[in-house]
Amino acid sequence: MGRTAVVIYLVLQLMQETEASVVNCIPRKTVKYQTGNIKTFMKQGLSNVSTLLVSEETDTLFVGGRDAVFALDLNNISREIAREYWFATQERQLECIQRGKDKIRCQNYILFLHKINDSNLYVCGTNAYHPACDHMVIHRTNISLQGKAEDSRGKCPFEPTLKYASVFVDGEFYSATSNNFLGTEPIILRSMRNPVRTEFKTSWLNEPSFVNMEIVQESESNPNGDDDKIYVFFTETAVEFEFYDKLLVSRIARICKGDLGGKRILQRRWTSFLKSRLSCSIPELHFHFNIIQDIFLLRRTDWQDSVFYGIFSQQWGRLDISAVCAYSMKNIQEVFSKGNYKGPVTVEHSHVKWVVYRGEVPVPRPGACIDNFARSFGYNTSSDLPDKVLQFVRDHPLMDNSVNPIGNRPVLLKRGSNYTRIVVDRVTGLDKQTYDVMFLGTADGYLHKAFNWDGEMFIVEELQLFLSPEPVQSLQLSSKKGMLYVGSQSQVVQLPVSECRQYKYCLDCILARDPYCAWSQSSNECVLLANQTGDRKNLIQSVKYGDASSCLSVENNVRKFLFTLGNNVHLKCVPLSNLASVVWKFNGSRLQAEDSKYLLYDGGIVIFNVTMDEAGFYDCLSIEKTKGKEFLITVASYALYARQKTDNANVNATTNALNETAAVSVKSSVPTLLKEAAKQKSMDNQKEKLVLKLLAAGFALLFSFLLVWNFYKGHLSVPWKRRETGSRTANADCLGSPGLATEGSGCVRKSSATRANLSSGNESIPLVSFSSEGKCSPDAQHSASFTGSSGSLQLAELFG
Ligand SMILES: *[C@@H]1O[C@H](CO)[C@@H](O)[C@H](O)[C@H]1NC(C)=O
Ligand SMILES: *[C@@H]1O[C@H](CO)[C@@H](O)[C@H](O)[C@H]1NC(C)=O
Ligand SMILES: *[C@@H]1O[C@H](CO)[C@@H](O)[C@H](O)[C@H]1NC(C)=O
Ligand SMILES: *[C@@H]1O[C@H](CO)[C@@H](O)[C@H](O)[C@H]1NC(C)=O
Ligand SMILES: *[C@@H]1O[C@H](CO)[C@@H](O)[C@H](O)[C@H]1NC(C)=O
Ligand SMILES: *[C@@H]1O[C@H](CO)[C@@H](O)[C@H](O)[C@H]1NC(C)=O
Ligand SMILES: *[C@@H]1O[C@H](CO)[C@@H](O)[C@H](O)[C@H]1NC(C)=O
Ligand SMILES: *[C@@H]1O[C@H](CO)[C@@H](O)[C@H](O)[C@H]1NC(C)=O
Ligand SMILES: *[C@@H]1O[C@H](CO)[C@@H](O)[C@H](O)[C@H]1NC(C)=O
Ligand SMILES: *[C@@H]1O[C@H](CO)[C@@H](O)[C@H](O)[C@H]1NC(C)=O
Ligand SMILES: *[C@@H]1O[C@H](CO)[C@@H](O)[C@H](O)[C@H]1NC(C)=O
Repeated sequence: MGRTAVVIYLVLQLMQETEASVVNCIPRKTVKYQTGNIKTFMKQGLSNVSTLLVSEETDTLFVGGRDAVFALDLNNISREIAREYWFATQERQLECIQRGKDKIRCQNYILFLHKINDSNLYVCGTNAYHPACDHMVIHRTNISLQGKAEDSRGKCPFEPTLKYASVFVDGEFYSATSNNFLGTEPIILRSMRNPVRTEFKTSWLNEPSFVNMEIVQESESNPNGDDDKIYVFFTETAVEFEFYDKLLVSRIARICKGDLGGKRILQRRWTSFLKSRLSCSIPELHFHFNIIQDIFLLRRTDWQDSVFYGIFSQQWGRLDISAVCAYSMKNIQEVFSKGNYKGPVTVEHSHVKWVVYRGEVPVPRPGACIDNFARSFGYNTSSDLPDKVLQFVRDHPLMDNSVNPIGNRPVLLKRGSNYTRIVVDRVTGLDKQTYDVMFLGTADGYLHKAFNWDGEMFIVEELQLFLSPEPVQSLQLSSKKGMLYVGSQSQVVQLPVSECRQYKYCLDCILARDPYCAWSQSSNECVLLANQTGDRKNLIQSVKYGDASSCLSVENNVRKFLFTLGNNVHLKCVPLSNLASVVWKFNGSRLQAEDSKYLLYDGGIVIFNVTMDEAGFYDCLSIEKTKGKEFLITVASYALYARQKTDNANVNATTNALNETAAVSVKSSVPTLLKEAAKQKSMDNQKEKLVLKLLAAGFALLFSFLLVWNFYKGHLSVPWKRRETGSRTANADCLGSPGLATEGSGCVRKSSATRANLSSGNESIPLVSFSSEGKCSPDAQHSASFTGSSGSLQLAELFG
């Protein structure tokens, strides 16, 4: 059996490496924190931000934090319009501390902000473990609580760190939280009008961690006279799987808006509570992303076209992989309105097993909303429903089928980033095609912009939001304004959905594949497509293919440099993106990596001990491949001359260059070069390891035949989850581009060098290619410096 496990492991690994080669998770650009594009709100009094509310009608962003609500200008969140404090009273705080809670938690954490109308908000806070909700009145530049806070148990958590969800619909407040001080009694409650709640049974809710809640107006022009539904998303402990450990599952539950509870059975309890497993997995790799982190509803005018996007992670195994799955309304409806139910059966004394229910199902369908069919029987409200229907739904809240994602696989997989929040925008490109652009907040304060086209995952960029690596706590999109609002615990930032002007070259603009951006041939700049109202004929965009063939080539200024014989010359060059590699040309022919004369690294090139032979033209080319096409652009050009003392102009140039050398001091640049060199060495070692791995894989293939034979003969069965392999399996992604994968947190934030074979015509030239931080300021590309000859000895030892 032990050997079988090893074989399974190897086979799985082999499959993953195959998969990995088609998954490209590397964000094309890495944009480090810059104050220019981002507006920040960070002020005294603002802490523990937990909720953001965008009000486009009043041009206000409401922010809920600890003990306070802020109203900010939606167009410039750095401008505070008003604030209102709401502290827990002294007695409440004392009582809270006496009950054994931490002083810092015995404050009023504002967790919910809901809009009632343009002049009224509904605000809920933990109020020192004594949850309270109040109305907030908005005057023009003044917000104030009505001071009519009521006990709001079941509406808002007691515990500030507990997960919760809520939605406000037509004067009714739906909340999913915990109903008691200890946080042991989960509840999905409707309050304010027609209060109805969940049964307190583990078959309904089993240690849930709520994520989100959304209303879908399914009654709109519905031929069946169906009702609106509220969908609740959470992770809970599974009852339906046998496992030696607590197994978590993601759930989608739904209730009908018109549900009033039953008459005798399920009095003031939901008669329409049904739930199903929300599946997000890569079936062939046995990767089950069973923990849901966040969900976003991409609303469409026709509710049937709306799509849910969810972020998932794993309970065990590859904790470093985040997945995004998308769910259609059709799939969800199918499961709830047509699927089988699961039911408990008692086996071996008192042990309960949940299996598909094959018995008779009463009519009308248990858990269905009151629709035309029910009304035809005279069931006008849920309280009219017959007892046997209510009994059935009380005992069978779980559906047998799971809700599967669109395409039966994730739309995005990312290793090395923990996604915490998602919003999605549907954008129409120049080709009239719509693209669902995902914005994902990470646990280390980055925002990823990604899309999936025809199964291909693409991350346009990763952008650093905060100076310190704080988790993204809340994320809101204003599609109308083209703005994103992101909150961490301590601050809120605002940024546009796209900063097209960051792309200086046509090639870069097109290769970015950003659906928001297009290259304007008339103004010669990368522009926001939404802003281009007039003639669109001169615009170029290629989201599907990243095909930059129609870009005109650009001429670069050639920078002259003089060198002193015997010195080391350092020429800088940064590739256009993380997906690009760099090639150097000397007098028109590619430089050989093997040549010990040169050190090619991701920030440029170092020429050791220059002689007259090295005088000439150096061009740095950034090469990027999309869909099999290769695009290259010269990002820097240098002309190197030997110093001649008589030439006045050249002397000036030399002193200029020497001045630039001062900026990159010899002392600091040489150690970094050495570091680069060491990295390159370790990459070589990794190559050797890869060869060994491939050898192992060959054996694995052999064993796999054996294994398949075993399965075929029925000696073995495939368990649902393989914990031990899950934790060791490697390379879900990033492996596709070995040159870009590095150890540790990010795939690309740090960079590395590797040897690659780039074919040129019919010959294959081995050369060194590089990836780097991808931040492309033209200045960085065009500066050059000399390193003193003192460093050459050590470097020569390493590379000689
Ligand atoms: C609130 O923020 C402070 C730091 O700003 C942190 O120490 C504390 O744990 C936070 N409270 C909660 C309940 O998260
Ligand atoms: C945004 O508001 C801040 C604070 O009032 C102000 O300093 C800044 O100039 C404003 N920015 C813009 C672009 O209006
Ligand atoms: C907004 O809602 C509040 C509370 O329900 C109500 O008192 C107020 O009249 C409403 N205002 C408007 C303008 O509808
Ligand atoms: C804000 O409104 C409250 C209640 O209506 C009032 O007491 C307070 O004076 C107002 N503040 C300002 C600055 O207008
Ligand atoms: C349901 O509504 C119909 C039409 O309004 C009415 O005839 C019928 O009596 C109602 N049934 C119940 C149980 O109230
Ligand atoms: C992501 O989460 C996992 C598990 O909690 C943790 O081990 C890992 O360090 C996190 N990675 C980042 C980049 O935050
Ligand atoms: C788009 O157009 C608006 C209004 O003309 C302008 O204020 C804004 O700066 C433009 N945005 C970009 C990115 O060009
Ligand atoms: C530099 O090149 C010259 C001439 O080729 C050679 O004599 C000298 O030893 C070299 N210096 C170093 C440090 O390699
Ligand atoms: C490179 O080109 C320059 C300028 O044409 C020329 O002076 C130099 O000799 C060339 N070097 C080599 C090695 O071909
Ligand atoms: C060289 O620099 C000096 C002083 O900076 C200046 O006067 C002179 O014109 C420059 N020569 C050339 C050829 O640019
Ligand atoms: C070199 O830099 C110094 C200080 O920044 C400056 O005063 C000097 O004019 C520069 N020389 C040239 C030739 O640019």
